[in-house]
Amino acid sequence: MEAFPRNFIWGVSTSAYQTEGAVAEDGRTPSVWDTFARVPGAIADGSTGDVATDHYHRWEEDVALLADLGVRAYRFSLSWSRIMPDDSGRPNAAGLEFYESLLDGLSRWAIRPVVNLYHWDLPQWLQEKGGWCDRETTDRFAEYAAVAVDALGRDVDVWCTLNEPFEHCMLGHVLGEHAPGLTLPLDEAFAVAHHLLLAQGKAVRVLREAGAESVMAINSYAPARPASDSEADRTVAALYDVLQNRLFTDPPLTGRYPEELEPLVAPFVRDGDMDVIATPVDLWGVNYYAVNAVRAVDGPIPLEVVAPEGHPLTAFGWAVAPEGLTETLTGLRDRYGDALPVVVVSENGCAYDDVVGADGRCDDPERVAYLSAHLDAIAEAIAKGVDVRGYFVWSLTDNWEWAEGFTKRFGLVHVDYATQERVAKSSFAWYRERIAR
Ligand code: NOJ
Repeated sequence: MEAFPRNFIWGVSTSAYQTEGAVAEDGRTPSVWDTFARVPGAIADGSTGDVATDHYHRWEEDVALLADLGVRAYRFSLSWSRIMPDDSGRPNAAGLEFYESLLDGLSRWAIRPVVNLYHWDLPQWLQEKGGWCDRETTDRFAEYAAVAVDALGRDVDVWCTLNEPFEHCMLGHVLGEHAPGLTLPLDEAFAVAHHLLLAQGKAVRVLREAGAESVMAINSYAPARPASDSEADRTVAALYDVLQNRLFTDPPLTGRYPEELEPLVAPFVRDGDMDVIATPVDLWGVNYYAVNAVRAVDGPIPLEVVAPEGHPLTAFGWAVAPEGLTETLTGLRDRYGDALPVVVVSENGCAYDDVVGADGRCDDPERVAYLSAHLDAIAEAIAKGVDVRGYFVWSLTDNWEWAEGFTKRFGLVHVDYATQERVAKSSFAWYRERIAR
């Protein structure tokens, strides 16, 4: 029996800074990632996203790949600093034209665009004014959302607000491993968290007023298991669970922060904020990769995330644990009930050290096994009554994996970064066949 509903949306996801390149073309100004990638030692292979997969120039080839793959939807993000290159409030027409062309290309193949406003690439000019530590950034985000929906809205099916605010907040503003590379004490980082949520709520209102058909929020989820039975590990695993799995989900869906975090966020919350944050969305994006184990350590951040024992690991060292996806989906439904919008698995995928052989083929059986097991996990959640309506593989092509540079390959399509040659991996053929079925 087919486990997925007939109108299930099959797609792939990408993001601007990881693919576009052309960082100084047609009026784009730097984002925090352009700056951070130049900090010595910040990126594993010393690379930057200056060229990435050169998608800005090769988008037609990439759209042809999407068409060949047979996906019905393509999730990508807009580069904020391409559209709003400075603090004048004036949009950059050339930046918008790039996205207009891309949207035209997608519509020629009847591929539905799922457009994300923010995938971690804050304009550097905004970072210099305080970035997400500053409440004003929430208004700049709403203005940018208004410009984007006004210029591109006619051709966009689904608007997404922020990608994975938890990772952006923690890796970028507490651990210093991602742009903007801040190492704020946890209590100050709650300002960042609150402003991200507030920005999202304001943008949802702007998008709605502009008549957006469908709006999606996107969060990452990973069940957090204590690394051992010790009380210390159990305590930090519970804390990590609240931070990753609830900090950015409770407020939009319930209008409240998790009780244990309320006192920490309170200094930043003003009257009316929670109503804005709880503005309803239509779709709930779930990015899922792995299950985490959490261990107590000494230090300002009292925990460490490791791979749980007993699972195969991807090339990133992440545990392959499809059952964690079923658990995540049923867990969301059980916790939020009717407040949970329709769910879309907005990212799922894995990194392996894929190589193109002498015969020109790129075989990635581990990726096929990974994706196939995760689809089974979704089917199980659907059978248990969770309303899941779409699935997006991360990613169409290999691309620039943040602090890992070019060292981690997540694509269905292999990219030779010296020549930009694209070679479909065997997982591409597998996914095409799966979609057709
Ligand atoms: C989640 C992020 O949204 C995406 O940018 C990243 O490449 C993948 N995870 C893989 O780490």
